[in-house]
Amino acid sequence: MPKLDSSVGKVELENPSILASGILGETAESMIRAVNNGAGGVVTKSIGVEPRDGYLNPTIYSFPDGLLNAMGLPNPGMNEYRHVIEKLKSEPGHIIIGSIFGKDEKEFGILAEAMSSLKVDALELNLSCPHAKGVGSEIGSDPDMVERVVRSAKEHSSVPVWAKLTPNTDDISALAMSAENGGADAIVAINTVRAMAISARLRMPVLSNRYGGMSGRAVKYVGLRCVYEIYESVDIPIVGVGGIYTGEDAAEYLMAGASAFEIGTAVAEKGPEIFSAVNRSLHSFMKKEHYSSIQEMTGLAHRQT
Ligand SMILES: Cc1cc2nc3c(=O)[nH]c(=O)nc-3n(C[C@H](O)[C@H](O)[C@H](O)COP(=O)(O)O)c2cc1C
Repeated sequence: MPKLDSSVGKVELENPSILASGILGETAESMIRAVNNGAGGVVTKSIGVEPRDGYLNPTIYSFPDGLLNAMGLPNPGMNEYRHVIEKLKSEPGHIIIGSIFGKDEKEFGILAEAMSSLKVDALELNLSCPHAKGVGSEIGSDPDMVERVVRSAKEHSSVPVWAKLTPNTDDISALAMSAENGGADAIVAINTVRAMAISARLRMPVLSNRYGGMSGRAVKYVGLRCVYEIYESVDIPIVGVGGIYTGEDAAEYLMAGASAFEIGTAVAEKGPEIFSAVNRSLHSFMKKEHYSSIQEMTGLAHRQT
């Protein structure tokens, strides 16, 4: 029988499907619901040093193949959010990845120390949100900055550090190599693709911030290409994310080079039950195709070309 357990470096997962950042990550209860529905781990909402309101509505635009969002990284700030992590940690056995964002290596250092002191299983550095000023992809598309931020987070953290990269660049491999040079334990790819929607009737952009990040089915092939390129450039594990709805989508990411994967928009669209559905369909795919482990599938698309 195929086995779904997997590991991302030192982080061991009962199964490879992880809740992506920003989806259900605001409360402990919603993250526990994801785990109870089969998620192998959860990534928290991205948390900054100070509380932040985010943008005015409309912040989300839904279309048949996914979502556009420009939430503006609303969050209660690290001091307040620590209670959410403590509540999550009160039930043993949950794999929790704490997502943090900041404007420079100093802020990432402060947040890495605070978040890792809460005994999360790893940190995910948001170097990739495409719609917030002075943070996310604005700093995460500069390879030198990526290296400095990762190094600072590593110096201030007692747990593994994952760098989440932006696809809004012409060379995601360069960003991945910088993260690896800075000491990253894993790469997460991708965050949303910078995009916009326009209402022809209103003759104006739909989102209050005008620009947003696209996710869901529409980005799967961008995500696969990014994971494939990164796998050829670095030796650290990769977590794939972008447009995963089925076990076969997940298998494609594994074969591109991922050791585990995150699910975002599909959870928003279909509810947390998507985790057990994806795990079930991945398991049947593996059985039918005679794969016995996740590890065996990782990177397979490279070996056959
Ligand atoms: C509403 C929404 C909020 C998000 N918030 C965050 C966030 O706070 N931090 C982050 O790193 N990514 C955030 N993301 C990006 C997702 O974690 C994920 O990388 C992206 O949506 C692609 O995966 P998907 O197609 O499965 O949604 C958000 C995405 C959406 C749709």
